[in-house]
Amino acid sequence: MYRTHTCGELRLSDLEKEVTLSGWVAISRELGGLTFVDLRDRYGITQLVFDMDDNAELCEQARNLGREFVIQAGGTVRERASKNPNRATGDIEIRVTSMKVLNASKTPPFTIQDDTDGGDDLRMKYRYLDLRRNAVQKNLLFRSDLAIETRKYLAGLGFVEVETPNLIKSTPEGARDFVVPSRMNKGQFYALPQSPQTFKQILMVAGFDKYFQIVKCYRDEDLRADRQPEFTQIDCEMSFVHQEDILRTFEGLTRHLFKTTLGVELGEFPRMTYDEAMRRFGSDKPDLRFGMEFTDLSATAKGKGFQVFDAAESVIAICAPGCAGYSRKQIDELTEWVKRPQIGAKGLVYVKYEEDGSVKSSVDKFYTPEDLQGWLQQCGAQPGDMLFLLCGEAEKTRKQLSELRLEMGGRLGLRKTGDYKPLWVMDFPLLEWDEEENRFFAMHHPFTSPKPDDIVKMESSDHTVLKGIRADAYDLVLNGVEIGGGSIRIHDRDLQSRNFRLLGFSPAEAEAQFGFLLGAFEYGAPPHGGIAFGFDRLAAVMNGASSIRDFIAFPKNNQGRDMMIDAPDMIKEKQLEELGIRVVKDA
Ligand code: AMO
Repeated sequence: MYRTHTCGELRLSDLEKEVTLSGWVAISRELGGLTFVDLRDRYGITQLVFDMDDNAELCEQARNLGREFVIQAGGTVRERASKNPNRATGDIEIRVTSMKVLNASKTPPFTIQDDTDGGDDLRMKYRYLDLRRNAVQKNLLFRSDLAIETRKYLAGLGFVEVETPNLIKSTPEGARDFVVPSRMNKGQFYALPQSPQTFKQILMVAGFDKYFQIVKCYRDEDLRADRQPEFTQIDCEMSFVHQEDILRTFEGLTRHLFKTTLGVELGEFPRMTYDEAMRRFGSDKPDLRFGMEFTDLSATAKGKGFQVFDAAESVIAICAPGCAGYSRKQIDELTEWVKRPQIGAKGLVYVKYEEDGSVKSSVDKFYTPEDLQGWLQQCGAQPGDMLFLLCGEAEKTRKQLSELRLEMGGRLGLRKTGDYKPLWVMDFPLLEWDEEENRFFAMHHPFTSPKPDDIVKMESSDHTVLKGIRADAYDLVLNGVEIGGGSIRIHDRDLQSRNFRLLGFSPAEAEAQFGFLLGAFEYGAPPHGGIAFGFDRLAAVMNGASSIRDFIAFPKNNQGRDMMIDAPDMIKEKQLEELGIRVVKDA
């Protein structure tokens, strides 16, 4: 038997027990005639003691143990003289009477500790060592709990877990596909699914009624902290439902997951239309942990002779609480921050509402104190606050100010970890215009249903009317992160064809790409709708982490590489030949 107990298990109630533990040597140290070894496994760390007076040979062996050696040790549980209150096993230690080295280890390239000295790439190359670290293990154990609780909850509601294929067909919508060449059909390619969207809809046509899958999805897009080329969704679909049924079901799932994994009772799930979110926060995923809502000052700021504002479509402000004390240097630094290409603002106007009630502004040449007081009032500012104003083209300005709002929220400590503010954002536009391609794209995806009242607008050729079509689509936002998104689907062949037409597909193209779905719609498709949660994002946001990588066992780096297995990689000439692929090398 390798072990009688784990390294996280023994307590004072186990005193005098004869035990055997197996695990990794975290650290060892000598003190007089004693050698202490911290033995680690997934469950915790237990202190082993080797005593020169008990067994000199054994003690000598212990002294030769290196970090990360795998050992088995037998001995007696005894009370520790100096206890470690920070460790669950900190009251006891094992007086070792036998020890066996099960496997030696090279000195690891970084220490296996919560705060490690390994850089990102090194940690990823030696991911098996990184995964030994408590901090990373904790995340993956959390992820496992989250998956198990998801299955429990959805199974309890009668959802069926169905696997859909990974080798599917490339489609022009959405992100870029990862493609896989077919040997048996030379010159042809499968694509890896960006999501199982069409399959889950087909399952509804087949009568499965409630489907879910915890499923890998693949998207060849630029990577960011919250994006991986392969990621996981909790993908769901239901038949005979309205939007309300879906929102309730998945609010229920979210509440269940928070309660069972974190012990947190979530508060309200407020709802906001897309238009309202954009107007109040300049974002379709506002972080509701703090206020700092937008105030449109265009009406009072324009027409007073300040050229910059006069030429702008919109002048919008946020009120940063308690920031009137900002120094010239701080304001300059913030101005540079909004002018960075990532934000792209031309400049930043401020209005300080001093504690004594006086007002100072970077534009007081153009505005009377009464004008400025008016703005402060409109924004609900209190003495000690500061207004920040951006101006320009309306949509752009809102996006820029949204970034500034988040930045200020962060700087002022208003985006607190442990504070969870969910939000449903609803009624997204059905279509969005792409300037480069000169065509409409589906904002969510081409299978999303327009709101019934807006279907008539689909016949229009006026872009403004088309842009105004609202979709039966919703996103679940948590602390400013889009956790999930879904919609009620089109289940009528004619409406689906009309939507494809709006998206610029000829009938032949629609048939070639999605003929199977259009065909299925002719055989009794039930009304249906669904949602997919970003599983990695959910895990990260629940833990207040900004990077989803920490919650993925084997993530890719920012260049889309797996540093451990060194992928992607070249393949052999022979493989290429079999696949009928000729690589054209750059000249
Ligand atoms: P959508 O494209 O909005 O919807 O994706 C659903 C959720 O998946 C997460 N997500 C990602 N997570 C990590 N890395 C990525 N690259 C990435 N891309 C998306 C987000 C997002 O909210 N089939 C539809 C769902 C439906 O309509 O039912 C879909 O895939 O959290």
